[in-house]
Amino acid sequence: KYFQNRTGLKEMSQRLEKALGIRKVILSPVVNPEDQTAAQKELGKAAAHYLKKLIHNDSIIGITGGTTVQSVIDSFRHEKDHLPGAMILPARGGVGNRAELQANTLVERFANMLGCQYKLLFSPDILSKDAISSLKNEPEIKALMALIKNITVLLFGIGDAMTMATRRGLNQEEIGIINSRDAVAEAFGHYFNREGEIVYEISTIGISLEQFKTIENPVAVAGGLGKKDAIVSICKLHPGLILVTDEVVAKAILNDT
Ligand code: G3H
Repeated sequence: KYFQNRTGLKEMSQRLEKALGIRKVILSPVVNPEDQTAAQKELGKAAAHYLKKLIHNDSIIGITGGTTVQSVIDSFRHEKDHLPGAMILPARGGVGNRAELQANTLVERFANMLGCQYKLLFSPDILSKDAISSLKNEPEIKALMALIKNITVLLFGIGDAMTMATRRGLNQEEIGIINSRDAVAEAFGHYFNREGEIVYEISTIGISLEQFKTIENPVAVAGGLGKKDAIVSICKLHPGLILVTDEVVAKAILNDT
């Protein structure tokens, strides 16, 4: 029922591009919707396949963390490239406790696969505004922030609002606010409702929403029905967005529109 041939997926992705009003949609097949692990692996493969064409020797690549971005990097495992002019950066600081899902960890792994340069950001993502402005005066962080402004390709995951609120360790009061304002998505420290409007903001050291909106090649990777509304919301932020998602999510969004 779920497996579409390549032509079917291509046609569905074009319909979704129109429905979401974004530059490009790439769909991965889902053979068994019960098997989330296999679906995420396919999603990672589809994103990696597209990224290989997008990344060049002069690219400045930003990445966030999370399990989906991890699956994209895993798909590059057998690729050995030589792009000494390219640079990979973490687009945010540390989130949660799992080392293998941090942007820093994935930056280092990805850079080794691509044979390119990289920089790391040793800071938690959530910090007070005062801490952020003083850190931004530190030479190492200042240099990284300048590079973040020049990111040409951003690979990022989309989080469902509640999952991310928990992962980011928000308190009960903040969770209550996010809930009451119908937040469905989180990206770059902002919580959004289904219309893509900001409903809550936390101060983070990573890439800002304004910077995100100017990136030439923003590649969002997110799959699974639980992220459907989050995906719809984030697509409202950037008409140049390239979305990599799965066919089950695509069908569900098209059914809603
Ligand atoms: O880190 C958060 C991402 O935006 C989503 O995370 O790929 O683990 O679902 P995930």
